Amino acid sequence: MPFLSALCVYFLIVLKPVLTNTITEDIDVLVFLPQNNSYLFSHARVAPAILYAQQRLQAEGGQYSGIHFNIHFENSDCVNGALFMLLDRSCGQKPDLILGPVCEYEAAAVVRLASHWNIPVISAGALAAGFSNKNTEFSQLTRIAPSYVKMAETFTAMFEHFAWKSALLLFEDDKQERNCYFTLEGVYHLMVDFNIKTYPVSMEERLDTDDILQNIHDTEGNALFPS
Ligand SMILES: *[C@@H]1O[C@H](CO)[C@@H](O)[C@H](O)[C@H]1NC(C)=O
Repeated sequence: MPFLSALCVYFLIVLKPVLTNTITEDIDVLVFLPQNNSYLFSHARVAPAILYAQQRLQAEGGQYSGIHFNIHFENSDCVNGALFMLLDRSCGQKPDLILGPVCEYEAAAVVRLASHWNIPVISAGALAAGFSNKNTEFSQLTRIAPSYVKMAETFTAMFEHFAWKSALLLFEDDKQERNCYFTLEGVYHLMVDFNIKTYPVSMEERLDTDDILQNIHDTEGNALFPS
């Protein structure tokens, strides 16, 4: 998984400018990963990579070997689990660094609190457009995967290249984790100069294919006769 190797690289980059000689420091790292293995970023999948990065930093010797990352894993549930765990733990001693959570809503709450406390957060998720605001509530967030706005930039380049003018964004909105919603939200907000229409569908409701086809037809009409 690419973000795991990116994480290891990040560890090296982030430490380099502050170190001239070997220094000894304990850094408490709180890692939020779901035990639920149905997530791509579950504890079982990601924890070995984090522990590997930790071991390599030790084994490399040299200026990084004096830094001890004390890694604590906690469960996260894509809702409020990570937030409540962070609050509970921080009544004792606050962590120096937080890895995760990945899910948008859960990350939003944790990053707001962490930013308030000036604790850096590194996440492979939190990709929604709203996290781009680094001036205030998400100031401490570093994302190691391309955000949805980056994806939207790719779409914009494609639209310009092919001289496309309009698109219908058809997406499933589960009204819970809302990953598809946030994915296309980036496109919707970045591509204001294009004629973009949205069409959410829900897996709980019957798919109205006639209506979808009508919408596709209407969007094509707009492409030919832009208003
Ligand atoms: C694991 O997550 C999936 C997807 O969100 C959910 O459907 C399932 O109920 C969860 N399983 C447990 C044991 O919580």
